[in-house]
Amino acid sequence: MLIDGKKISTDLKSEIAASVEEMVANGQKRPHLAAILVGHDGGSETYVANKVKACEQCGFKSTLIRFEDDVTEAELLATIDRLNGDSDVDGFIVQLPLPRHISEQRVIEAIDYRKDVDGFHPVNVGRMSIGLPCFVSATPFGIMELLRRYDIPTRGARCVVLGRSNIVGKPVATLMMQKAQPGNATVTVCHSATPDIKEICREADIIIAALGSPGFVTEDMVKPGAVIIDVGTTRVPDATRKSGFRLCGDVDFANVEPKCSYITPVPGGVGPMTIASLMHNTLLAARHEIYPAE
Ligand code: GUN
Repeated sequence: MLIDGKKISTDLKSEIAASVEEMVANGQKRPHLAAILVGHDGGSETYVANKVKACEQCGFKSTLIRFEDDVTEAELLATIDRLNGDSDVDGFIVQLPLPRHISEQRVIEAIDYRKDVDGFHPVNVGRMSIGLPCFVSATPFGIMELLRRYDIPTRGARCVVLGRSNIVGKPVATLMMQKAQPGNATVTVCHSATPDIKEICREADIIIAALGSPGFVTEDMVKPGAVIIDVGTTRVPDATRKSGFRLCGDVDFANVEPKCSYITPVPGGVGPMTIASLMHNTLLAARHEIYPAE
């Protein structure tokens, strides 16, 4: 069965929009998300444009701040400082990746964790890992929300996460092992130094593939009835498309789909959920639900 991330993300955004109208009717201001975009990377341009569009759909105010590739780290840090102090801005993000001359870690740590709706600040990552209220980064939250809304059992399940990135692999592994629903899974994380990945995957009830390696998960790696979450979004050149490329997942969809119980398509699976989850975090920030205002 196909997990329809497009539909669930539309539902989530409608729920958020309804909450926003209720807030506004009660005299509160509209949630406000700001985004900083550096340079003109095609992927980043698309993601940020989609985030701005999602803000409109949710009834949020949005501000896009653009810099050229040659922006200095000091200029960027000064802008972050200004947004940290701007009481009209509830949350903001700095779209990654950044040019090589800028330290992503320094930028992430400069963001006030109470406005870090990407959930990348060490305070949020640390709080998540010990199960405290925090901003959970968008892709892992989106994956958990799909499992929740499709009522997919995770308790006691064997979950294999492919990839150990800070923005997907590590946090989703943490959430899947958390004493919570969804969660309570037995989690194995595989990466580039793991031997026997095929054998490990064959034992999995749930595979979460976040490697960025098109078609990596093949039919022979999947136990019949397994649940497959495909986080891959590699751009592969395709002359038949207007854009000149198509998005390719980490799963060999055509051959794996007949064998599994649930699978997320690419596109239309995890991707749309990521943006809806960012909207969810922005709503929480505007309501001070995680970090109450002093
Ligand atoms: N680059 C890829 N994914 C993300 C994300 O979720 N947030 C930001 N800020 N940059 C990204």
